[in-house]
Amino acid sequence: MRIETIYQNEGHKWIFIGRDEAETEVIDTNQYAIINGDDVFLMDPGGAELFPEVMTKLSQIVDIKNIKGIFSSHQDPDIISALPYWISLCPDATIYCSGLWRGFIAHYGHEYIANMVSVPDEGIEIPLGDAMLELIPAHYCHSSGNFSLFDHKARVLFSGDIGGAVIDGHYPLYCEDFQKHADVMKPFHQRLMPSSEALMRWVKSVRKHRPSLICPQHGAIFRSEDTESFLDWLYDLEVGKY
Ligand SMILES: [Fe+2]
Ligand SMILES: [Fe+2]
Repeated sequence: MRIETIYQNEGHKWIFIGRDEAETEVIDTNQYAIINGDDVFLMDPGGAELFPEVMTKLSQIVDIKNIKGIFSSHQDPDIISALPYWISLCPDATIYCSGLWRGFIAHYGHEYIANMVSVPDEGIEIPLGDAMLELIPAHYCHSSGNFSLFDHKARVLFSGDIGGAVIDGHYPLYCEDFQKHADVMKPFHQRLMPSSEALMRWVKSVRKHRPSLICPQHGAIFRSEDTESFLDWLYDLEVGKY
């Protein structure tokens, strides 16, 4: 598994952890952390299966006790099934997830929701040191209670499953040939995204932020002109046809 710094400006960083080269049946996932000074914030920290490796990699560069917040874009097991392990290491961390899922996630165990902020449908802002993180509604872009996260300081967008692709652990970290990568993304979106209208609304709301990086929870990261190519592609993509 790789750990890479994908954004850095003085004391503010984005860290990628992923590309598991082990041959397993778990879908490949991208884990991200924001580091601001000493404070650490995790985004979709992943499944129980990957926890030991993700935690080991992250602990090489930060003190795990400094994890202040954990964002769960939605309710799936590849997003948050490792949550009890993270909470046991950093019991004071605040968990952010759509309020829609609170009672469902409680079925995993009470420890999942003890420190959980039920994010309202319109989203919220989360301060992290001198940075501001905004949870942007992404409902019906896959999950019906779903958020993306925009970091206003870094201008980096974590898009969750939007922009995802099923790839293996050897796939490039960044999108290299957009048209080729779009062919890999297409079946993922056409099966998992139920509404073109919802995707169009999401594209409009994130485009105004002009993200410099778009980081999905599966697949390749978009940078420079590929961020625009991706948003254009998604806006025109027909999904929800069955
Ligand atoms: Fe999902
Ligand atoms: Fe996912």
